[in-house]
Amino acid sequence: MTRHFALAAVLLASTAAMAAAADLKLGYALAEDSHYGAGARAFDETLKAELGDAFTVRHFPSSGLGGEREVIEGLQIGTVDATIASSGTLSNFVPEVGVFDVPFLFRDLSHARGVLDGPIGQEMLTKFDAVGTHALAWGEQGFRHITNNRGAVATPADLAGLKIRTMENPVHLKAFTALGAAPTPMAWPEVIPALEQGAIDGQENPLSVIVSAKLGEVQKYLSLDGHVYSPAIVMVSQKLWDSLDDTQKAAFEKAGDAAVVAMRDYVDNVEAQGVETLKAQGMQVNTLTPEDRQAFQDKLADVYAEYEAQFGKELMDSIIASK
Ligand code: PAF
Repeated sequence: MTRHFALAAVLLASTAAMAAAADLKLGYALAEDSHYGAGARAFDETLKAELGDAFTVRHFPSSGLGGEREVIEGLQIGTVDATIASSGTLSNFVPEVGVFDVPFLFRDLSHARGVLDGPIGQEMLTKFDAVGTHALAWGEQGFRHITNNRGAVATPADLAGLKIRTMENPVHLKAFTALGAAPTPMAWPEVIPALEQGAIDGQENPLSVIVSAKLGEVQKYLSLDGHVYSPAIVMVSQKLWDSLDDTQKAAFEKAGDAAVVAMRDYVDNVEAQGVETLKAQGMQVNTLTPEDRQAFQDKLADVYAEYEAQFGKELMDSIIASK
């Protein structure tokens, strides 16, 4: 009887241990060989190193769980556990976050990283708790540049009427409209087919995306204008977050930080070598002169005033003033 009892106890304990090994769905828009893939691997490896087999991370790259908006909605209802995503649709969930999408706000990568890792960025992360998700950290894509099949873009006049895909992001949409382009917001999974079919002339993304998504195969011109910094976010569902104990939460935080380091390393690398790779694939590349860049900024003066009214001049000034 006692032996049977002991056996049952062992069986129960091992069943409980098996039940505790949770399967996590991690979705992201790009291929495994991308900054998101690098971030996802680092996330997964760190969780394993910290928590052993408690969680199994199943990767769904290349929009395998849908576009970024759908994936974030999946986090909200708990059908997706984790994502690495752009800021594309984030301001539809937490409007204040749109401040990071304001064109020409960040000077360079180190300025952006400093702000996102500092009090302003960290405070923004906490706002996601109110919308059914839990944001762990700010990752990175790099500065966005314009690609298209019509011609090199060097001045705002070159954008006139250009059918350019933007993310489903009201801040970007407003800027491209003010610049005289014909912007079309579109979810990422539709972009490459739309470029192939000629439904749009161009799109804009950082080198990390242009290289990893092989946009050189469907786009002829790359104009290095760096019009806006593109953060990424590492986020889990609130359902998952609330189910974790303190040790597990600390491990997830660590995994989020490791994902950020891996993403930024990827970006640093592609910033150094990506243009050569794309030229070798046949893309025609031009870089904006400081005067031409200024011309883009001048054209955005009115919408800048609108951004200040929307996000607060004080906040925008303090981001600009951050060292
Ligand atoms: O352009 C976008 O929608 C995003 O930058 C992308 C490519 C989905 C990466 O998050």
